[in-house]
Amino acid sequence: NWSAGSVIEDQLEKIRAQVGDGRVICALSGGVDSSVAALLVHKAIGDQLTCVFVDHGLMRKNEGEQVITAFRDHYRVPLVAVDAEERFLARLRGVTDPEAKRKAIGEEFIRVFEEESAKLAEGGARFLVQGTLYSDVIESGGGTGAATIKSHHNVGGLPEDLEFELVEPLRALFKDEVRAVGAELGLPERLVWRQPFPGPGLAIRVVGGEATRARLDTLRDADAILQDEIRRAGLYRELWQSFCVLPDVRTVGVQGDERTYGYVVVIRAVTSDDAMTADWARLPYDLLEQIASRMINEIREVNRVVLDITSKPPGTIEWE
Ligand code: XMP
Repeated sequence: NWSAGSVIEDQLEKIRAQVGDGRVICALSGGVDSSVAALLVHKAIGDQLTCVFVDHGLMRKNEGEQVITAFRDHYRVPLVAVDAEERFLARLRGVTDPEAKRKAIGEEFIRVFEEESAKLAEGGARFLVQGTLYSDVIESGGGTGAATIKSHHNVGGLPEDLEFELVEPLRALFKDEVRAVGAELGLPERLVWRQPFPGPGLAIRVVGGEATRARLDTLRDADAILQDEIRRAGLYRELWQSFCVLPDVRTVGVQGDERTYGYVVVIRAVTSDDAMTADWARLPYDLLEQIASRMINEIREVNRVVLDITSKPPGTIEWE
């Protein structure tokens, strides 16, 4: 008889036994796994924990502030927030190939995190929290030799030579159990139920071109409208993921008496159990209509909206 409460009690004891009075750091991504892992550790050892949040400027609208507010103001977890947007954008300049983007972002992330963790290590930090789940344990131990379709970067992908002992309080849990533990710990519902979001963020959704600040801003605005309408329609939790893609393509349109030449926004929404396969979501026509007209009216750069009706396989969920 599984209960979130008993998992929490169990882990609190284990964390205290492992860490003693040592100092601990945690890379927060804003996702549910690293958030729940951080909260568990904080509950166990309080201010012996410092969280590091690297804002790479590739998050969705207001997401960075939400993480900072929740952890720093609400939970009062010591938090170092690094505004690294400029660094990441500079690193992404001229990069158009999907894998090159992932690599650039992954490397830059590690560099920023190493700088911050070196400072904290001077303060004696010896332990690193990771939100590794049971499914991650199986996947990495599987060794199936499957071809790499996409090299995933996420905050779990830190190099092993960082010389920290790992604290992994979620290693035995499935995703839905992590959410239950998060809810029990009072994590805001927005974080508990957050759809998966790739480590390289919006950069891999500006497709076929460079992720410039201007394009990222356009995509971020479109994405905010999509999220807003999907939530209002009560569909957010039913969808595995819902997001926008911004191809590096402009098309001709007409608004008022004016010819326009603007960007195309793609709506991508899928249902799935595990992201291995996925089905395109049959969103209601009226909702699609509302989303499209808001995007075109509210975002000057956008004059056309299309819907991706490809399942996985043969398509992947993300476009890059
Ligand atoms: P695909 O596009 O391969 O995606 O069908 C499967 C799931 O993985 C997510 N994804 C990523 N997650 N770093 C991540 O942390 C990445 O580089 C990355 N690429 C894809 C994707 O959002 C979907 O949930």
